[in-house]
Amino acid sequence: MNAAPLIRIRGLCTQFGDFVVHQDLDLDVWRGEILSLVGGSGSGKTTLLRQLLGLSQPTRGSVEVFGAPMAGGAEGPDPQMRNRWGVLFQHGALFSALSAFDNVAQPLRELRTLPPDLIRDATLQKLHMVGISPEQAQRTPAGLSGGMIKRVALARALALEPELLFLDEPTAGLDPALSEAFVNLIASLHRAMQLTVVMVTHDLDTLVALSTRIAVLADKHVVANGSLQQVMQVEHSFIQEFFLGERGQRAVQGAGVAYRANPAGDAASGQAGGHDRQQGS
Ligand SMILES: Nc1ncnc2c1ncn2[C@@H]1O[C@H](COP(=O)(O)OP(=O)(O)OP(=O)(O)O)[C@@H](O)[C@H]1O
Ligand SMILES: [Mg+2]
Repeated sequence: MNAAPLIRIRGLCTQFGDFVVHQDLDLDVWRGEILSLVGGSGSGKTTLLRQLLGLSQPTRGSVEVFGAPMAGGAEGPDPQMRNRWGVLFQHGALFSALSAFDNVAQPLRELRTLPPDLIRDATLQKLHMVGISPEQAQRTPAGLSGGMIKRVALARALALEPELLFLDEPTAGLDPALSEAFVNLIASLHRAMQLTVVMVTHDLDTLVALSTRIAVLADKHVVANGSLQQVMQVEHSFIQEFFLGERGQRAVQGAGVAYRANPAGDAASGQAGGHDRQQGS
């Protein structure tokens, strides 16, 4: 049924001058999954996301989205393809001079095929989905809170009812309650719209709550790829630090995942297992 992946990356290499960011990187994204991409700062996550969006081009290798090769470069992706995905950039990236309503309506207006009343209804429906009232929709971003801006940006990313949603640090800068609300929103949209989601995140709670699969970017390629449980079994220094640090343990325990706190059996690692949740708040 799902014979071909939605995104297929093969032998991808990226080089800036002498500096190699990606080398022989392979990755597939399958329809319906929420794939989280994690990796240290500078490991090449944003660069990879930009290549998936056709905003920049790898040095070598192939990137296919919806079965078609991404051209990338100055002309960017085919507009037909661009209408099949939505992107939530890290800082919301709303047009500051436009109201929330006009920000969400803009991709629909750009199609130049829809009558104004249909645009209005579709826009209000998307804003409603993310919990923004018609009154709030009249405000420009300056009159909205950070959490509201993220939700408006998400409504805009969803305006064209995309099959594929890219999220760049969707919960960065949100307080824990807003972050949780945002995670719940993405989860319900994922169910309702059968979205495929590719997300870059440093936030372990978001990662644990949403991911159906995790890909770890380190050493210039994907070093681990699978469920949280599978990824955590991989003995790699980034994985050990990221998932088995104190914050990681708390997030993972919160999700009820069994894991090996100390895979080498070395009690001197300084990361004793069994921190319990009462410690966190
Ligand atoms: N246009 C460019 N020219 C030169 N170097 C670049 C360019 N774009 C990215 N890099 C370098 O490539 C590496 C990967 O950058 P990238 O932004 O993809 O990292 P990242 O994994 O998203 O990191 P972070 O978690 O900090 O956002 C970095 O060392 C960065 O300086
Ligand atoms: Mg980045």
